[in-house]
Amino acid sequence: MIAYQKLIVYYFSGTGNSKNVALWLQEIAREKNMGSRLINIAAIDRITIDAPTADELVVFVSPVHGFNYPPVMMNFILRFPKGNNNVLLLNTRAGMLIGRYITPGMSGISLYFAAIILKTKGYVIKALHPVDMPSNWISVHPGLNYKTVKYLHDKNKEKVTAFARKVFNGKSDFKAVREIVQDFVVLPISIMYFIIGRFVFAKTFYASKDCNNCGICMKSCPVKAIKIVDNRPFWTFSCESCMQCMSNCPRKAIETAHGSLIIYSVIHSLVILVLFYKYFTSWFFSIDNEIARFFIESVLFIVLFGVWYRLTHYLLQFRWFERFVVYTSLTKYKFWGRRYKALKNI
Ligand SMILES: Cc1cc2nc3c(=O)[nH]c(=O)nc-3n(C[C@H](O)[C@H](O)[C@H](O)COP(=O)(O)O)c2cc1C
Repeated sequence: MIAYQKLIVYYFSGTGNSKNVALWLQEIAREKNMGSRLINIAAIDRITIDAPTADELVVFVSPVHGFNYPPVMMNFILRFPKGNNNVLLLNTRAGMLIGRYITPGMSGISLYFAAIILKTKGYVIKALHPVDMPSNWISVHPGLNYKTVKYLHDKNKEKVTAFARKVFNGKSDFKAVREIVQDFVVLPISIMYFIIGRFVFAKTFYASKDCNNCGICMKSCPVKAIKIVDNRPFWTFSCESCMQCMSNCPRKAIETAHGSLIIYSVIHSLVILVLFYKYFTSWFFSIDNEIARFFIESVLFIVLFGVWYRLTHYLLQFRWFERFVVYTSLTKYKFWGRRYKALKNI
């Protein structure tokens, strides 16, 4: 018995995990003779969004970024037209493998926040479901090996297939709610990531001298955050760190500037401590509101970070500087530098 005639899946995917989940759902829809549409939200007009038809089961799939859906997906959901369809919310998150045990990622508020918004628009939430795909965040940890990636891929395909067979029959699935305590414990981190973290990560990418300006990173960037400045790719603050550019670069010329980040942190602390607090202490501490003070510090941090990144980008054209940045980038080293790309949907 199937409860729905049609399926529509809206997905965002940096390195292919969420796209694979969308494809697995579509496979089961076909098996059940349901009509299906997959919509890559990075490839459509996200300002005027067509409403799903009344007979469609609506699904959203997106990676978790900093314990939330990435802004591109959140904005999409915020703009999504009102309706009363049934909705399944899925995320893909950082699975790892210890022996044969898949360690789960952390969803944070991603599913709850989206569920609240869609509920207020009239939709009926039928599932909140995390999928522990291989972690793609190679800016912060070494890339996973093929065996791990393949194991996680295969296991998740089985699990998503079983999930789809169940929910397409009209059942609900709220297993994600078992993690609600830990999801809300990390709420302060997800807020910090939204206010500062994502801008910092956006500015960790640079192109090494191996870059031949082929433009693939620019063209494939889902949020068009990369532009050419001084004849080399430049990552703007609108980058969502989805890792698509690093994953697709045929010359492995995109790196994460770890050393540069550490030096910036030291210089920033000095500038703040020596100059800002020296000349603005009385004004700054006369502001009674801690949130306002945090906001001012955050803005200062981000502005100085932008200036620093622009300077780094300029200096990268000099060989001595480029070598320094490359050798202090962990992504350049063999033990860390494996790029992540989801397996083709098999
Ligand atoms: C910037 C960034 C932040 C991430 N934050 C989280 C997180 O908070 N929790 C988690 O479990 N996984 C996190 N991950 C891992 C991804 O969500 C996970 O690998 C996902 O399956 C990638 O999906 P995609 O290939 O469709 O982009 C993060 C990855 C990136 C690149």
